[in-house]
Amino acid sequence: MRRATLRCARETLERVTMNEPKKVFVKTWGCQMNVYDSDRMTDTLAPGGWEETSTVEDADLVILNTCHIREKAAEKVFSELGRIRRVKEARALRGETMVVGVAGCVAQAEGVEIARRAPVVDMVFGPQSYHRLPDLIDRVAAGARVVETEFPVEDKFDHLAPASRERTVARGLTAFLTVQEGCDKFCTFCVVPYTRGSETSRPVDRIVAEAERLADAGVREVTLLGQNVNAYHGPGPDGAAWSLARLLRRLAEIPVLARLRYTTSHPRDMGDDLIEAHRDLPALMPYLHLPVQSGSDRILAAMNRRHRRDDYLRLVERIRAARPDIALSGDFIVGFPGETEADFAATLELIEAVGYGSAFSFKYSPRPGTPAAAEADQIAESVKVERLARLQALIDRQTRDFNLSRLGMTMDVLLEKPGRRPGQLAGRSPWLQAVHLDAPVDLLGTIVPVRIDAVMTYSLSAVRLDAPAPSSRPVAALGGVR
Ligand code: SAH
Ligand code: SF4
Ligand code: F3S
Repeated sequence: MRRATLRCARETLERVTMNEPKKVFVKTWGCQMNVYDSDRMTDTLAPGGWEETSTVEDADLVILNTCHIREKAAEKVFSELGRIRRVKEARALRGETMVVGVAGCVAQAEGVEIARRAPVVDMVFGPQSYHRLPDLIDRVAAGARVVETEFPVEDKFDHLAPASRERTVARGLTAFLTVQEGCDKFCTFCVVPYTRGSETSRPVDRIVAEAERLADAGVREVTLLGQNVNAYHGPGPDGAAWSLARLLRRLAEIPVLARLRYTTSHPRDMGDDLIEAHRDLPALMPYLHLPVQSGSDRILAAMNRRHRRDDYLRLVERIRAARPDIALSGDFIVGFPGETEADFAATLELIEAVGYGSAFSFKYSPRPGTPAAAEADQIAESVKVERLARLQALIDRQTRDFNLSRLGMTMDVLLEKPGRRPGQLAGRSPWLQAVHLDAPVDLLGTIVPVRIDAVMTYSLSAVRLDAPAPSSRPVAALGGVR
């Protein structure tokens, strides 16, 4: 098996040097940052002749970009590797080769274990090594089995290739842009500080250049990403550390970028200037993901969230005072070690008090190496299941109420893609809701005023109020490429 892997890898390298088209299949789990990273990996491979394929059977190179946040997420990689092993063996019988790589947070956390458990894997590499990918492939081709989980000294963002204009256009009108990576918060349940390392912020000029490239390719909405995005403190062109608010103000000056969002924020880093940016910047959308995890002070302390329930509620009040139409979303964990029925009731009360537009909720999953996993008072699975169901019923009701509150409302919709029916386009409301309406295809990429005339379970339906003024149409987006 081992020899076969090496031979396969060499043949793949020969195809590389012969400049035949080679195909890479990437499967992505986890957060938006993994989505961004997967795109950067394929962008970095593209100059070497690698084309993307959506079928694993066609692939000369398979990359699984993995997530370690909960046990279920991490286990998925091993079941996927079982399937890939069979494909790799079938290809080998046909004389075709396949190099298999595992990237992402499982790779970072369990690099050696993956290499031990899954002989099908040729290379395991963590999130800080993506810029070295072409080199890692060469090393596999030269006979090495690669496990790369160091945090290298050079900045990967300086070495990852930007997307070509064509690739950006093909990806659509909205884009992610990572501005900050890693986390120093060490919540006691969370693996991210271990898998992504300590907090780093990219320099302002690089981010602005990347945003301008996106705008030039017609992108109209950018979501800034970071595990702790509002802790952003990257060096600005003036030599000072810029806050996220200052960065947003700068990006709002790029005219084609009509919509800005950012995620994920920690309540502790929601500074006054960021709240003021929500007040002042029309481009900053009135939708904020601000996870609180629990409504119980006891559990918040045990989680090391470093704020109390009242701090969060007061913060929400201040944000709403600055931007009254803002909708909040959140993350909740049920069944954290030691969570009593009273603690859980406090979480439900907090949800009632805040009123969320949407929220994600999870059963606590003990993660190896995190402090909470070692706690004695773990909660029974049946209790977690029951609490999750109650919490989700409440969130579902709030989401439904929020969507219903949009009925009859006038709002701007960014038209992003063809709709389900001919003559229809689909877009997003300022609050990230999917909206369908009748509109001609040449309006793709424009922002149109609409009135919501029906509310479905997962989307809104709307009618156009008027034809958009010519000035609201972006020059680049209509460049004939799309
Ligand atoms: N940086 C973000 C969260 C990143 S992880 C923040 O601080 O809010 C995304 C979500 O996954 C978390 O908000 C949390 O709700 C959930 N999560 C993280 N670790 C978990 C675990 N061990 N078990 C269950 N859910 C978890
Ligand atoms: Fe994890 Fe907490 Fe950091 Fe969020 S703030 S990434 S939950 S350690
Ligand atoms: Fe998962 Fe890593 Fe993101 S653990 S949630 S892919 S930072």
